[in-house]
Amino acid sequence: MEVVIRPTAERAARLVARLVADALRDNPTLVLGLATGATMEPVYAELARLHREERLDFSHCTTFNLDEYIGLAPEDPRSYHAVMREALFRHVNLGGAATHLPDGMATDVASACARYEQRIRACGGIDLQLLGIGQSGHIGFNEPLSALRSRTREKALSPVTLAQNARYFGGDPARVPRRAITMGVGTILEARRCVALVTGAHKAAILARAVEGPLGAMVSASALQLHPSCVVVSDEAAASQLSGTDYYRWTFAHEPEWQAYQDA
Ligand code: GLP
Repeated sequence: MEVVIRPTAERAARLVARLVADALRDNPTLVLGLATGATMEPVYAELARLHREERLDFSHCTTFNLDEYIGLAPEDPRSYHAVMREALFRHVNLGGAATHLPDGMATDVASACARYEQRIRACGGIDLQLLGIGQSGHIGFNEPLSALRSRTREKALSPVTLAQNARYFGGDPARVPRRAITMGVGTILEARRCVALVTGAHKAAILARAVEGPLGAMVSASALQLHPSCVVVSDEAAASQLSGTDYYRWTFAHEPEWQAYQDA
């Protein structure tokens, strides 16, 4: 794992967008894993700008989102289908059949989850998976005690997550769907590269637990410590409770792979 700290949330998001753009230029048939959440919005805005102004080409790219609420139809503006359409899909040239999200309206959820895994495999696996980290320590909707080898499945949301996401449901945690379909921690760990973006002072404690704390199911993001190619990009505010920041800054300043990103 590597940790990259940028001065502001804007610059952290811009760096993540550049990592995606460079991966897509290197491999036009990139299979890209996508995350929702406010943290990711500036990343998608920057990718849309790169498409518009620098012709970043998504026409051969395939995407798989991490999760979707159970019981929300794709037309519901609060569904992750709709959120992704608004944030990214309608702004870039992704093909109509190239974007995938779990089916929150499936009548047979277990089969829908198995089919989702099958579709990821059929596309050759995820090349680059974007991730946020929730206040509960989740990646996707893998709430505390999610098995570190879990696959795409139905998951009950924790009270912490219901409270965190209430802002999208009129501020009332009781109106947030109680269950979701999410890629499992094991599914996420199979992506060839993971890029997590964590910004804001409210994420400082959970980021420190995820990156420097013990590996454990109570913080599913800590499983990223097992991943052979994972970078966590944060702003100064989210990095404020990390203890190894001198080393992380030194690595970013000196490692050859980061030289092209110094001004990002
Ligand atoms: C939701 C998503 C997660 C995401 C989290 C972070 O719960 N299911 O995948 O990581 O939000 O949210 P935010 O970026 O708004 O803090």
